[in-house]
Amino acid sequence: MRIGVVGAIGYTGSAVLGALAGRPDTQVTVVTSRGEAGGCLTDLLPHLSGVPGYRDLVLEDPADLEKIRRDSPARFPEVIFLAVSHRASMALVPRVLALGAKAIDLTGDFRLKSLLMYPMWYKVEHEAPEYLEEAVYGLPEIHREEIRRARLVANPGCYPTCVILSLLPLAEKALLGPGSPIIADCKSGVSGAGRTAAVPSLFSEVAENFRAYKVLGHPHTPEMIQELSTAGGKPLRLSFTPHLVPMNRGIEATVYLDSEKLPPYKEIRDLYEARYRDEPFVRFRPEGTIPQTVDVRGTNFCDVALFHDEGPGILKIVSVIDNLARGAATQAVANLNLMAGVDEGLGLPLVGLRP
Ligand SMILES: NC(=O)c1ccc[n+]([C@@H]2O[C@H](COP(=O)([O-])OP(=O)(O)OC[C@H]3O[C@@H](n4cnc5c(N)ncnc54)[C@H](OP(=O)(O)O)[C@@H]3O)[C@@H](O)[C@H]2O)c1
Repeated sequence: MRIGVVGAIGYTGSAVLGALAGRPDTQVTVVTSRGEAGGCLTDLLPHLSGVPGYRDLVLEDPADLEKIRRDSPARFPEVIFLAVSHRASMALVPRVLALGAKAIDLTGDFRLKSLLMYPMWYKVEHEAPEYLEEAVYGLPEIHREEIRRARLVANPGCYPTCVILSLLPLAEKALLGPGSPIIADCKSGVSGAGRTAAVPSLFSEVAENFRAYKVLGHPHTPEMIQELSTAGGKPLRLSFTPHLVPMNRGIEATVYLDSEKLPPYKEIRDLYEARYRDEPFVRFRPEGTIPQTVDVRGTNFCDVALFHDEGPGILKIVSVIDNLARGAATQAVANLNLMAGVDEGLGLPLVGLRP
């Protein structure tokens, strides 16, 4: 299968290339960069230079996709990953689909079903609303069958992946509702902000520091609400606060629920055990163990644990993912696997990079 990566030298684009490295069934034939077009991919990303198929790849301008299709149709990708900045996919997705390729979009541009949500949360009008209905939200635990048939996959956001998987078993049993708010307290490593230089991501701003950001109105909030309320068939109230942690990779979510409004703790544990028993990339942790980002680093796993704080009557759900892996690139490759009709985990590492 021929693959293209638009935004190949960004963090998620290069992580997609890493997740595809060494596969006999895929061949990366097009990689793009606007600023580095004409340059050799592995000169810019030497950590990929041991992959035979990558050594000869030359970065191309994404403006030339139509020309590449016209001049070298045998090389044109069948599936293109869009690992680009927010809003850029609104213009790229229609082009990619018109050129006959499937698209796996890592931006937030096609994740929300309601057109009204884009100006409300992203502060922009959508430029390609005609594709919103077709786009499949790429969380396999919810949409596996639709992903297999999809032409356009909207890969989930990193925080939403962690928070949705924390709550999915409860949502699916309609145990979450508007009666009591859900509090999602989340922390991310700095690579979550991408490779593009910005003052808040400077080492001297991040090291020895810990802070919340976008305390109100983070655009990942509606994505969490959309998927969880659809799973349960009920509206719900969710308050999400992200924090920046001085580390490269990893997301930890601690979600708080009023346990008085839920079935007994033992029943909830049984529910999670049963729901995640056959899921290849969710590990429901044994009682008393605390998920750590280092255990999932570089992998597609989401580790989830439950804790009942009986005194105040709070159920705490702690979960972790790697933002660049399960939160972006390995989830995107799992979606590619589903679309290609092969095993969801093909080529994905099963062991976290520890320590
Ligand atoms: N970082 C994460 O943990 C994470 C997790 C989940 C989802 N995401 C999402 O994934 C996307 C990429 O994130 P990232 O962290 O990889 O960002 P990044 O490191 O800044 O890379 C983005 C790349 O997109 C390319 N690009 C930007 N605008 C473009 C345009 N108009 N047309 C074509 N290419 C364009 C740039 O490449 P050139 O300038 O070289 O062309 C850049 O290298 C974002 O939408 C982000 O929200 C990120």
